[in-house]
Amino acid sequence: MPSVPTFPSQLLQTQQEFRPQQNVNTALPSVPAQALPNRTAPHAPQVPEVSPTLTIPEELLRTRTGTSVVEEGSILDASGRTYHSYKEGKYFLPNDTAEQDRLDFQHAAIALLLNNRLAWAPMTNVPNYVMDVATGTGIWAIDFADLNPTSYVVGTDLSKIQPPNAPLNCEFLQEDSEEDWVYPLYKFDYIHLRMVYTCFDDPRKVIRQAFENMNPGGWIEFQDSSIMLFSGTGKIAGTGLEHWSNGILHGAAAKGRDILVSQHYKRWLIEAGFVDVVEHKLVWPIGTWPEDPRMKECGKYNATNLQEGARAVGLKMLSAAGLEAEEIEDIVRRVKREATDESLQPYGHL
Ligand SMILES: C[S@@+](CC[C@H](N)C(=O)[O-])C[C@H]1O[C@@H](n2cnc3c(N)ncnc32)[C@H](O)[C@@H]1O
Repeated sequence: MPSVPTFPSQLLQTQQEFRPQQNVNTALPSVPAQALPNRTAPHAPQVPEVSPTLTIPEELLRTRTGTSVVEEGSILDASGRTYHSYKEGKYFLPNDTAEQDRLDFQHAAIALLLNNRLAWAPMTNVPNYVMDVATGTGIWAIDFADLNPTSYVVGTDLSKIQPPNAPLNCEFLQEDSEEDWVYPLYKFDYIHLRMVYTCFDDPRKVIRQAFENMNPGGWIEFQDSSIMLFSGTGKIAGTGLEHWSNGILHGAAAKGRDILVSQHYKRWLIEAGFVDVVEHKLVWPIGTWPEDPRMKECGKYNATNLQEGARAVGLKMLSAAGLEAEEIEDIVRRVKREATDESLQPYGHL
């Protein structure tokens, strides 16, 4: 299993062309944007200059020790991958060690893209209650809890694949975020959703519940993407990357799920009652083609993310799109090759 090497800090410089901007930040009506001091305010949550999680922490009990957080009762299918059993069939990506490693590569790639900030919402106080919806391995939630010991961080997921020895101010709950949220004791000050575009049949319900379960002045932040891939040299037509992303789009649609949902978030957030909604689209490179060292590193991790995920995502969604096993394997092979083809300059968006 691949492991994530440490980033030398000198690779984390910013350069103009890919300088990340703010993400989708929204606030409840009681806090007008102009009243908010900038995010370097003394009580702002701690965000690292260089994320300590750019290596997989030992406490995750995975790569370094050769063990993993395998959920008992996970369903092994014919592909040899395991899937969540709670709410079986709801989500189409695996939950096994390979997927957990991929999620941590993705975490490293996003950390670089976002200039090693866990949160971009311009919070002026450390949030008391934080939710990480669909937390995956819990790597973001653990980081946030470690860096902000006065926050209480709740990470939710369909799969119980989070490490048992999370910090005391971090709790993981197995739940379907599309079911009614039951949090009678507290509401949240910051709700974080990352890479959830494949997750929900009704994302508007999740947004509505986030609004209803938020303290006045709270913030919600999506750090999300889409399956669509592009070529910086205009050569996407006919590539495996194009067939793969279009096929997945159609396969997901055949199963009733729109995975281009992130384009609607801004409107849906406003409809739910959030104000000061800001959306930024970042170029998320795949491969080492960018000149900027930080983005080159980001692209390197993202290429691994794509290579590791290509088959897992492809298996279910490309067959739902009507492709035969051989065609799927051929597309996956091409995607893995093209992910590092500098002549294509592949990229997605976050
Ligand atoms: C692509 S992963 C992203 C994980 C994490 N947010 C991150 O960025 O590392 C999506 C996660 O969402 C979870 N998930 C999917 N549908 C869900 C649902 N309806 N409710 C809660 N979690 C869900 C999956 O089990 C998976 O762990």
